[in-house]
Amino acid sequence: MNVYMDNTESSFIDGDIGKLLYRGYDIHDLAEKSTFEEIVYLVLYGELPNHAQLEELDGYLRANRRIPDEIITVIDAVQSAHPMDVLQTAMIGLAAFDEESEDNSKEANIRKALRLTAKAPTIVTAHHRVRSGLEPVAPNPDLNHAGNFLFMLFNEIPDDETVSLMDVDFILHAEHGVNASSFAARVSASTNSTLHAAVSGAVGALKGPAHGGAAEEVMKMSIEIGNPENAEEYARKKLDNRERIMGFGHRVYRAEDPRARHLRERSQALGEKRGDPRWFQILTHLSEDVMAPYRDRGIYVNVDFYAGSIYHLLGIPSDLFIPIFALGRVPGWSAQCIEQYENNILLRPRLHYVGPMDREYVPIDER
Ligand code: CMC
Repeated sequence: MNVYMDNTESSFIDGDIGKLLYRGYDIHDLAEKSTFEEIVYLVLYGELPNHAQLEELDGYLRANRRIPDEIITVIDAVQSAHPMDVLQTAMIGLAAFDEESEDNSKEANIRKALRLTAKAPTIVTAHHRVRSGLEPVAPNPDLNHAGNFLFMLFNEIPDDETVSLMDVDFILHAEHGVNASSFAARVSASTNSTLHAAVSGAVGALKGPAHGGAAEEVMKMSIEIGNPENAEEYARKKLDNRERIMGFGHRVYRAEDPRARHLRERSQALGEKRGDPRWFQILTHLSEDVMAPYRDRGIYVNVDFYAGSIYHLLGIPSDLFIPIFALGRVPGWSAQCIEQYENNILLRPRLHYVGPMDREYVPIDER
């Protein structure tokens, strides 16, 4: 907790003032002016791409979206599992079909990172279709990363505004230092295990409600609250029972999570556009009134607070909220692993033993 474990050039967070930089660039500039494909390049190569570099990377992503039929068979076999468990299973399964899976050179790892980034949405959407009794939708090379994800999910070409919303969401989730899932990935990388193993391990770590699961929990909470007038009583009861209000608080930020701003604006706009402003009103009431006194203790909204309301309004089922976080984070996990491989030491902290000492072994019949 709050220990610096290594140096990084991938992202910078100043939790006291709510500042986040990817490779030196402010998240607000990136969210407003960039695209997810550009961010993938930035996070993995360290620089913003020029036109030719971006075109090459985009082409590579579009060309690598398909997943082998064998992985679809695996997805089919485990379809009743949570989508994160399916994603984790399929991600590690992809190692069997990747000729470079055991090559830990930087160049091979960047290529694998791009292939995993490209294929992850195909896994998540294929699973959702299969479990809904539908055929998976093949990737559409005419659409960008965000648009193709929505297309494979709903089998419908999405409108530009929705694509841009999803694109920003992926940008905001792309990289975030050594959070729990990136730490899990780095621990695997530190044993010189493969990128597939590290990234699929990160998917497992992201699944928990203290990390990636919060968006889903916030939406569940909003549905339970039902309308803005109930928000105060609902939250009071939780807080009186010393329970947490999901979507608030962060291990690093003691100010507002800078990523939340972009999703707040979009949640409001989408709610108005769809004629369903209730979710945004509930969330606003929670953040501006009920939880306002908690700001003195450094508890503000985090990135997950508004995300759930957006996904819900887009018609995305709630158990796909965490996988969406994962789809955005694949480049960040990979960049963290590449840094770890480059200047590696085995991550092996120690535990302070507090149990009994030197006990006498008693044979089983005498216990
Ligand atoms: N609601 C109410 N009280 C809270 C909350 C919350 N969401 N978060 C922290 N607190 C209180 C907590 O009860 C504790 O109070 P006290 O000192 O009186 O016991 C104090 O703040 C410190 O909490 P902590 O758990 O020691 O702090 P942490 O740094 O370990 O917590 C956290 C970080 C994210 C686990 C926590 O804030 C939390 O559980 N939040 C809700 C889950 C959530 O929204 N997670 C998404 C995080 S952002 C996405 C990501 O990057 O993963």
